[in-house]
Amino acid sequence: MILVTGGCGYIGSHLCVALAQAGEPYLVVDNFSNSRPSVLERVARITGQAPAFVEGDVRDVALLQQLFARHAISAVVHLAAFKAVGESVREPLMYYGNNVAGTVALLQAMRDAGVRSMVFSSSATVYGDPASLPIREDFPLSATNPYGWSKLMMEQVLADVAAAEPGLWRIARLRYFNPVGAHESGLIGEDPRGIPNNLLPYVAQVAAGQREALSVYGNDYPTVDGTGVRDYIHVCDLAEGHVAALRYLRQHPGLLTVNLGTGQPVSVLEMVRGFEQASGRPVPYRIVARRPGDVAACWADPALAERLLGWRARRGVEAMCRDAWRWQDGEARRLANAP
Ligand code: WQD
Repeated sequence: MILVTGGCGYIGSHLCVALAQAGEPYLVVDNFSNSRPSVLERVARITGQAPAFVEGDVRDVALLQQLFARHAISAVVHLAAFKAVGESVREPLMYYGNNVAGTVALLQAMRDAGVRSMVFSSSATVYGDPASLPIREDFPLSATNPYGWSKLMMEQVLADVAAAEPGLWRIARLRYFNPVGAHESGLIGEDPRGIPNNLLPYVAQVAAGQREALSVYGNDYPTVDGTGVRDYIHVCDLAEGHVAALRYLRQHPGLLTVNLGTGQPVSVLEMVRGFEQASGRPVPYRIVARRPGDVAACWADPALAERLLGWRARRGVEAMCRDAWRWQDGEARRLANAP
């Protein structure tokens, strides 16, 4: 059985669907700090089976010990973490406590239970401002905010744990680029609380008439049209990459680190246009000042994941926008209007 921490979140819920479709039994643990309980029944409507679920926090050592004692857990996919850059600057202890201390507590419980296989949710943020593009896994690492540092610290913890017991641990560090989109059913998707930090959910809310206009953070970058360029990856492709990593670890002990991206650079304005085409709705925007901490451009060299995992992203910008709009204009609207 696969234990999925944070399995009710945006990535987590899509991973549950991918695991079910791959015939992989799984158990979700989540504290609903950034998700809704209703996602479980919506995942059940997609897969035909209610996910096995325990409400709880990865820092609760007694709960973790109980989970490993009661369930035949063979591997853990660790997604539970806070991920808002701005919030991490305001609340560093909350981020180091939840993200770093939580991962250490989980690894200790895994080791005590003899479970030594983990797929870990990392982020392209660990590359900082890359000196060249596309980005390969051997590029220099850096961080400029507590969220990014927490990802770097967790990557280091995992590398040291794997090195301390060679041949025993099986660890995959997956560096996500920019996850976007939603499952084609429209039943699950990105469901941020409050004002979205990220581009696509904000664009979707403008298209849905929930927000007046998009603020484009700068159009004076050295890019195709002056706006920021990123590697957007469909969340279903990302979820399938996790399943491929789990299968790889079953055959390969040690430490694996791969980019999960498409290798395709897309600018803010290109994404806006893609969303207008997919939704048939205008997305008004205004150019404003650059956002502090943003890099001009960031996209992956996805060759290593393809070579080692036999995985590559298959869905393009049109599918990302079409699926995100179906979610935004359907279930997300219903949830926002629900009492
Ligand atoms: C994308 C582009 C913005 C919002 C962050 C984290 C990363 C990961 C994904 C967690 C940039 C521009 C955005 C808006 C805009 N998070 N933008 N107006 O910053 O690449 O990555 O989220 O795992 O770790 O660093 O994503 O979606 O915030 O921004 O113009 O209202 O859209 O400047 O060029 P980012 P993003």
